[in-house]
Amino acid sequence: MRLIKPRADAAAVASTIIVRTLDEHELVRILEPQVQAVVYAPPALPAWMGELAGAVAAGEFRVRRTILGEVTGAEIAGWLEDNLPVGVVAEAVRDALVADVLALVERQRAMTESSRFMLRIFTGAPTRDCGFHVDTVPPGAPRFGLLRVYNGAGTDYVEPAALISMRGFYRYASRRERLAREWAEARAGDDESVRRRALADLVQLDEERAFLAGPERVETAPAGAIVAFRHLDVRHHWSTDERHRAWIHCSPMQGEPRLVVNVTAHRSATGRFSRPGGG
Ligand SMILES: [Fe+2]
Repeated sequence: MRLIKPRADAAAVASTIIVRTLDEHELVRILEPQVQAVVYAPPALPAWMGELAGAVAAGEFRVRRTILGEVTGAEIAGWLEDNLPVGVVAEAVRDALVADVLALVERQRAMTESSRFMLRIFTGAPTRDCGFHVDTVPPGAPRFGLLRVYNGAGTDYVEPAALISMRGFYRYASRRERLAREWAEARAGDDESVRRRALADLVQLDEERAFLAGPERVETAPAGAIVAFRHLDVRHHWSTDERHRAWIHCSPMQGEPRLVVNVTAHRSATGRFSRPGGG
């Protein structure tokens, strides 16, 4: 039996990989302990996604930012039927989207044996509000989730080998939180020079990417890709020995509105993924 150390060590970090694949069956590789993310980019996207993409980008197909917590697949299906826009895209396109989101939920169910999920869904134009970050889950929840962005600019992410240290990443993350807050305050104020300086500081931080071995060492998951990726137990956020555990990623900051869907699972019925190092 293979034992998994709960603490990171150099070997664990060195062996951490991100799988890029054209084969959706490889998404289950997120269950392998050394895999931090699986980026499945379909070789060709279905026609319905093209029509949907146009309507989202034009701001016609809109979904308000929503988090459904601890819901069943049936509840998610009901919410989608009741809340996705009607009459904006062809009925077959809307139906295909509903089926696609439910397929993500089913994928997560199959990998976690959970029957309850958290679904995050929204449409919106990219902003500079958020930089590189890791997603978290509550203690005991399976530590991976699925992301699908249906159109627009892709999601940037960091190759584990390009990260200098987790300490450096958290230094960036906490500074970014502060600068983003200052920029929000500046936008609410009426001093143009303060606003310009706050934005310039934020842009500089985003472009430096000082936590990487080179600012260019960023990959992009294209629109239409499904990403299965490792989350952090929220208790381990800001812990510096967790480098191999979670996917460091960043949404685009400019471009057309996008439709974004994120699925995680609640505690599995068997507790299979709640032990340390298990997922
Ligand atoms: Fe995220």
